[in-house]
Amino acid sequence: MEGAISSGPNPRIAVVTGGNKGIGFEVCRQLASHGVAVVLTARDEPRGAEAVEKLRALGLAQVIFHQLDVTDTSSIATLFVFLKTRFGKLDILVNNAAIGGLLVHAGLNKLICRCAQQFAGMDFDQMLEWMVKNVREPVDSAKKGVQTNYYGTKHVTEAVLPLLQSSSEGRIVNVSSLFGLLRLISNEEVRQELNDIDNLTEERLDELLDRFLRDFEADALEARGWPMGCSAYKVAKAAMNAYSRLLSRRHPALRVNCVHPGYVKTGITMNSGVLTPEEGARNVVKVALAPEGGPTGKFFAEDEEASFV
Ligand SMILES: NC(=O)c1ccc[n+]([C@@H]2O[C@H](COP(=O)([O-])OP(=O)(O)OC[C@H]3O[C@@H](n4cnc5c(N)ncnc54)[C@H](OP(=O)(O)O)[C@@H]3O)[C@@H](O)[C@H]2O)c1
Repeated sequence: MEGAISSGPNPRIAVVTGGNKGIGFEVCRQLASHGVAVVLTARDEPRGAEAVEKLRALGLAQVIFHQLDVTDTSSIATLFVFLKTRFGKLDILVNNAAIGGLLVHAGLNKLICRCAQQFAGMDFDQMLEWMVKNVREPVDSAKKGVQTNYYGTKHVTEAVLPLLQSSSEGRIVNVSSLFGLLRLISNEEVRQELNDIDNLTEERLDELLDRFLRDFEADALEARGWPMGCSAYKVAKAAMNAYSRLLSRRHPALRVNCVHPGYVKTGITMNSGVLTPEEGARNVVKVALAPEGGPTGKFFAEDEEASFV
């Protein structure tokens, strides 16, 4: 699968994490349709290879597979060596892989899988209310959520940064969420720290995430002003947004942006949502392919620039 790119002269190279399904798969399809050579990555080899086959069947020969589990440092290192040897640069990194960090109440999982119409007739608020009532967030899932959604994104980014710097204008698109907006954190001190990009550091982000997980274990989320319901997902995305802003300051030659794709029918939303993966991915790809010299350090809510707060 790795040998298949035979492209025109010097194509742009993109890596997409979690490319085997949902929004990530669609981002791969749309980037490839724009002539970008895409390295579709997935943690599971058969699922990733199958996704690449689907894209090849659509005539998109410029897509190749490479395994990547964003929580596994050796998997990240192997991807880096592959990219360096094969291309010597990277133009676009789409950090898309994420988990919800939630468990659906016993018995409901099957129902949801069987019944894509579960949410038919519900509006946005009703769907969210249903989700909050029917899911649990155990501490292990919360830890996994922070590891995948914040540290996974950060570690992949750090590893491929030298390759992005070898591009004429390296781009990082972090697939974020309205759930990462700072207004959802009622603890004012934390909210202000995450928004104070002049003084925030990565070490401080680590400390805040450690504090969040300690409060989670102590059942003190509400008392300490952390967001409730999908807490770890919200906090990890808020941290990822802050990290993106730090990176964009530190590397002004790169374009580093965050995109909320919209509320999309995928695995992570248990097929609720109001947009198709194709529509959600379009918002991500628009930022990935923005003209040179475009915005950096910004948050886009669907296709409009918006506030991190
Ligand atoms: N859907 C929405 O409404 C919505 C809204 C806001 C933001 N987002 C964001 O959009 C992005 C894509 O989510 P989605 O909606 O397309 O959900 P999805 O269908 O559940 O896809 C998530 C992808 O992430 C992968 N993944 C999870 N853990 C991974 C790991 N450790 N290493 C590598 N890949 C991993 C999954 O792989 P497996 O197949 O192996 O599990 C899957 O490919 C996420 O960042 C999500 O937070 C989605």
